[in-house]
Amino acid sequence: MKVISFETVSEVADYAAGEMIKAIKTFVPTEAKPYLVLGLPTGSTPIPVYERLVQAYNNGDISFKNVKTFNMDEYVGLTPDHPQSYHYFMQENLFKHVDIHPENINIPDGMADDIPAFCRAYEMAIQNAGGIDIQLAGIGENGHLAFNEPNTPFDMPTHEQGLTQSTIQANARFFDKIEDVPTRAVTIGLKTIFDARRVIVLATGPKKAEAIRLATQAPVSVNCPASMLQNHEYAEFVCDKAAIK
Ligand code: PGA
Repeated sequence: MKVISFETVSEVADYAAGEMIKAIKTFVPTEAKPYLVLGLPTGSTPIPVYERLVQAYNNGDISFKNVKTFNMDEYVGLTPDHPQSYHYFMQENLFKHVDIHPENINIPDGMADDIPAFCRAYEMAIQNAGGIDIQLAGIGENGHLAFNEPNTPFDMPTHEQGLTQSTIQANARFFDKIEDVPTRAVTIGLKTIFDARRVIVLATGPKKAEAIRLATQAPVSVNCPASMLQNHEYAEFVCDKAAIK
């Protein structure tokens, strides 16, 4: 694990997008591995990264034809066309602007009738795709990764998770009222994240400083899920100055 710090949000996004663009550009599909597999987050922090990926596509620098994606999470009970669903977020911020094949886009289905069966199938689909090459992630103010809240075991695969009050409050800014924020989500697990070959966690702004301190400087603990990445050889916490205490 390493911590990489930059002055500004913009430099954080330049770095993360640059690494992804490099990986997309240099990927050579083979019969055994036809796709570069990206794990993707939603939230405010990755938006500038997606802007740069769209820009690179528009400039003709990259194509998403050989890219397969797995999103980290989705709220239970929101349909894909709900403006606060993560399906909608991904269409708006990335997918509708680039040439990814729709069948290569994977996002957890928060409307699945049988959520445990869906979770097993999602995990299997990641494995069948050859695993995640680069997992991009944000971090919660409480140290969560995707919706893996504090005290989630590190060995959990994709599962349904109840959201903590702190996460519901943090996400209320996107809804008319706090009662509208879903209280459950389907999320990839900490094991799913740990199994990625490379993990890039983005953290910008002072609200993330305590989570970054706990994730990178305190002993590994389920109280701060992101701290598990201290034991991942290719995990990077990419932070702006404000997120470093
Ligand atoms: P944010 O969310 O990027 O909107 O701060 C990150 C997260 O909660 O994982």
